[in-house]
Amino acid sequence: MREKHHLSAEFRNMLEQWAEDALGGIGIFKDRYPGFEKLKEKAIEQLRSVYSDITIDMFLRTEDNRRMDSPDGFARITGPCGDTMEIYLKVGSGVILDSSFQTDGCSPSKACGGMVAQMAKGKSIAKIKKLTAQDILDALGGLPEESEHCATLAVDTMKEALKDIVRQEKAGGKRQRLRL
Ligand code: FES
Repeated sequence: MREKHHLSAEFRNMLEQWAEDALGGIGIFKDRYPGFEKLKEKAIEQLRSVYSDITIDMFLRTEDNRRMDSPDGFARITGPCGDTMEIYLKVGSGVILDSSFQTDGCSPSKACGGMVAQMAKGKSIAKIKKLTAQDILDALGGLPEESEHCATLAVDTMKEALKDIVRQEKAGGKRQRLRL
């Protein structure tokens, strides 16, 4: 069982919203179903027993889950699990100015994409080249073993996007607006 700490009101609201969505059809009848609040609590408790609060926060938050027009670096990789990760980068003077991701994968892959994007922002390209899947897992407070490969997919995609910057520079100019 994971260690639980005090939840901010914002995080609590996010969890409640998630639980109501997860409970789907039952949510429509919540006012008529006396056990609904208990059910919601149970769903939240189960989620928090599997994932750290940082991981949950990452996959419920969407600010870096976005496409980017005319990125300086871009990569898309489909992992052995069949899920696809995309990474978008803007750089200047050897520093990553902005980073974002998109994935059609599981919740942990969203958390890993979000974490890799967040960790890259404001860092030198040289530093992010050395990032490992373990760095992502550590920053997320770990993932269930069966989801650890999601961190590898995020890091591999980030590294390909870094290589793409070099390819774009060699090709002598910025990538035209992406048509994906
Ligand atoms: Fe495929 Fe998470 S990235 S299961």
